[in-house]
Amino acid sequence: MSVSEIYETMDYGVALESSADALAWLVDQGSRFGHFINGAFTVPRDDFETHDPANGNVLANLSKANAQEVETAVAAARSAQPKWEKLGGHDRAKYLYALARLLQKHSRLFAVLETLDNGKPIRESRDVDVPLAQRHFYSHAGMAQLMESTLPDREALGVCGQIIPWNFPLLMLAWKIAPALAMGNTVVLKPAEYTSLTALLFADICRQAGLPKGVVNIVTGDGAVGEMIVQADVDKIAFTGSTPVGRRIREQTAGSGKELTLELGGKSAFIVFDDADIDSAVEGLIDAIWFNQGQVCCAGSRLLVHEPVADRFYAKLRTRMSMLRVGNPLDKSIDVGALIDPVQVQRVTEMVAANTAGTLFRAGDVPDTGCFYPPTLITGMNPADRLMQEEVFGPVLVSTTFRTPSEAVELANNTRFGLAATIWSENINLALDIAPKLVAGVVWINGTNMMDAAAGFGGMRESGFGREGGWEGLTAYTRPKTPRKPLKGIQPSVGSDVQASAGAIDRTAKLYIGGKQLRPDGGYSASVHGKSGALLGHVSLAGRKDVRNAVEAAQGAKGWGKTTGHLRAQILYYIAENLAARSGEFATRLNTMLGGKTGEEEVGASIKRLFTYAAWADKYDGQIHGVPIRGAALAMKEPVGIIGSLCPDEAPLLGLISCMAPAIAMGNRVILAASPTFPLSATDFIQVIETSDVPAGVVNILTGSHSDIAETMARHMDIDAVWSFGSKDLSKVVEFGSAQNLKRTWVNNGMARDWMKPDGEGIGFLQAATEIKNVWIPYGE
Ligand code: NAI
Repeated sequence: MSVSEIYETMDYGVALESSADALAWLVDQGSRFGHFINGAFTVPRDDFETHDPANGNVLANLSKANAQEVETAVAAARSAQPKWEKLGGHDRAKYLYALARLLQKHSRLFAVLETLDNGKPIRESRDVDVPLAQRHFYSHAGMAQLMESTLPDREALGVCGQIIPWNFPLLMLAWKIAPALAMGNTVVLKPAEYTSLTALLFADICRQAGLPKGVVNIVTGDGAVGEMIVQADVDKIAFTGSTPVGRRIREQTAGSGKELTLELGGKSAFIVFDDADIDSAVEGLIDAIWFNQGQVCCAGSRLLVHEPVADRFYAKLRTRMSMLRVGNPLDKSIDVGALIDPVQVQRVTEMVAANTAGTLFRAGDVPDTGCFYPPTLITGMNPADRLMQEEVFGPVLVSTTFRTPSEAVELANNTRFGLAATIWSENINLALDIAPKLVAGVVWINGTNMMDAAAGFGGMRESGFGREGGWEGLTAYTRPKTPRKPLKGIQPSVGSDVQASAGAIDRTAKLYIGGKQLRPDGGYSASVHGKSGALLGHVSLAGRKDVRNAVEAAQGAKGWGKTTGHLRAQILYYIAENLAARSGEFATRLNTMLGGKTGEEEVGASIKRLFTYAAWADKYDGQIHGVPIRGAALAMKEPVGIIGSLCPDEAPLLGLISCMAPAIAMGNRVILAASPTFPLSATDFIQVIETSDVPAGVVNILTGSHSDIAETMARHMDIDAVWSFGSKDLSKVVEFGSAQNLKRTWVNNGMARDWMKPDGEGIGFLQAATEIKNVWIPYGE
């Protein structure tokens, strides 16, 4: 073709990236791999093959780890960990820096190998995956360096089991390994069975960097190997993958004391308002859904278009889609590469074939062989259609229209997921009004797929919990240094059921739900005795229905989350004032229930705690992260929603207040299950709440057996988090039941806490009471 002809057609030629070096590297390794355990590769086996999804060619043979190998890998990580942690931040920073440098030196090899193994366009692996992975190691070298000065009260968790998916093999490895190592942990990582090669190349780089043996271990294999890691003697599981597997891992780790972070699926909304710059919105959308063939957890797979511009937008979108080039991922001018495996092509094909709703449009010529699927748009969908609710994880975009901003919010939040969302509008007031209303861990304004090591990434609802990147991602690889002792079971006092003084007026304390004192639905109550055996009164026994009623009441108080920190502080001070006015009475009650003379001290500490969280209400701020864009990434702290708390026995009043105050200070609504052994301080406290201007439904107080209440709370779909400060068994019930809607949990695993001294003035409680939403706002014309 002559130059003038090229100008005429504006056609692209083929610009193939050479795969020679990557293929030569595979041959050098014998095209067979073992696991990387304790600094060396095990003898390779031919347990399974890994393929190039673009053409089906076998790239290498891999070993599937058996139980013995997983155990050896975990043992290697375990014995390496103390020394790695003791090295100190600066020495760990040097290793992380070396890994970043080596990733950079071999960046092309990593990019080509990733494209061969995964099928993603070389343009993406070269310009996105590999640079972001490097950036993660550089940034976390800095985190290691700063650990001692910025997180002096935190320490490493120990050994982390990490299980990653196939859509961003190297990048997910970086997101997992860099923060873990930075904080002094060692790891056993399993890449997905489809994409192990860049992890194995990374293992080689760990060797080159002289990383101490056992700090990074990589075992290959399928879900069965993942399950072995979950069951192994590790201190944390970090998982990225599908929601069903995440749910299973939540159940399997329940009660084990293992920390868990889950980064799961999504069905993220891409909202286009009528005042958007339509051309740039179309371009953004192309990236949102067809980046990595739509196999992206945060893919903007649900398009919501403002009705006045819908026809124009769809027309432009179809035209642009027709220009997408689908084909050989090694071609530098390819937009859409191959899906991961024939199984995935079949899954996507079946999901689309089963859909009868909407109008279907397909674009692009697709090669006859290989795992290709054409970019697909289905307009005119109904919110309840399966394709509007289920993650397709392929190049399929579904769409509907909206009329008003509030309708857009309602549609966007009409999903069980909560990972990401995009807003396109030239009106920044509108965009910044909408962003806080979206249930999503990440919101992009006039841009999409912006990610960086300095900003947290992660979801809400069934998209999982925990963040990766930023300070919040780091915290998930650390724990407080405070030593903890097992909780001693406290037995309730027993005694006679006959009233001590004849003629006294019987009083059965009621439950406090929606601002009212109510009898329990089941109609049961129990007697409470003092240390001396005297009958002190009766309390209501809350059941399942009472928990549900409390949730309904809490839902009705949603407006609390929108009040100002100042107002919430005022109310907390008012509670403190009213408690102080009755401090003598509360102290006596505590002394009678517990025996001893600690009542006065506990009431004083309770008043202090109310002051502490009143103080924090307008000071536990968000941040603006230093991300590499011209613009800002706002890390906004939001309330979690409705928090259920199983309050401790050790400090009946102070414990209840310690669970309530930080939660309501941050705008949450709470359902507090009072100490089952000493419930009367909580029921007395109802009167303080009633006189302190707390809106109905913000604080709900239940009494009764925690084991009855815990399960209902944990399984309730509309409770967003459950905290448990009771027995180890209770922690397990809470974690297991939480798998239902993947709510956040914060449990003590049966360990005691010194309630008189909150960790770091209660920051742990504030963290548990907030979600961080990262809102990205690029600016400029
Ligand atoms: P998956 O969730 O089964 O696999 C992800 C990782 O977990 C892999 O390393 C796998 O070997 C491992 N794994 C599987 N079962 C396990 C178990 N029981 N215990 C521990 N580890 C286990 O995802 P899969 O089957 O590869 O893809 C299925 C669907 O999941 C996709 O179509 C997509 O919808 C979704 N998915 C979502 C991802 C996300 O980032 N949100 C990533 C990968 C898949």
